[in-house]
Amino acid sequence: MNIHILSVVPELLESPFGHSIMKRAADKGLMNVTVHHLRNWAVNAYGMVDDYQFGGGAGMVMMCEPLANAIEELNKVHQFDEIIYMTPDGKVFDQRMANGLSMKGSLLLICGHYKGIDERIREHYITMEISIGDFVLSGGELAAAVVVDAIGRLIPGVLNDETSALFDSFQDNLLAPPVYTRPVDFRGMKVPDVLMSGDHKKIEEWRHEMAVKRTEERRPDLL
Ligand code: ADE
Repeated sequence: MNIHILSVVPELLESPFGHSIMKRAADKGLMNVTVHHLRNWAVNAYGMVDDYQFGGGAGMVMMCEPLANAIEELNKVHQFDEIIYMTPDGKVFDQRMANGLSMKGSLLLICGHYKGIDERIREHYITMEISIGDFVLSGGELAAAVVVDAIGRLIPGVLNDETSALFDSFQDNLLAPPVYTRPVDFRGMKVPDVLMSGDHKKIEEWRHEMAVKRTEERRPDLL
């Protein structure tokens, strides 16, 4: 999977993919993330990529020309399956969307800044708009990092235990059950007996029961 990200603050994306599971995905060649600086397509030598909005009002708008040129040039080489705009008025990201995107081969994520991007770019180039929640970030970079992380760990071979993503919260619309590790007795607080029983069928039943209970209590909307 090849993921390209277009940003005016590429420095914000230097760290998230350089560690842990995302780094392993890159080292194994399973997911390559390339960040492009939109200023490479600026309209002048000053690096201009934004301008005042028509009709007045505070805040700059990211201009058509740099975005269109960047998208067209990159798309010619990489032939994106989706051209995604990160925006608080997009569709709210969830595990189902992560699953769908993890099966694509090539994605372009565009990070908005200021007041956002010129509407004509949204209409003519963008195939998908994603929000990571009902709050406004100062730019799309951190949102893009969240989406790439959620997608990356679903690509086969990225996680060590291939099955473990299947048991994540949300994969079956249930929250994950509680988990425990050593010691069996921590300051008088004990691990549930069933987990020590060695009876795998019973353990699976207990986990499912706990997942349903937790979902009923915390996220009844998922059921
Ligand atoms: N850019 C600013 N806020 C955002 C959000 N909530 N989701 C995606 N992109 C954003």
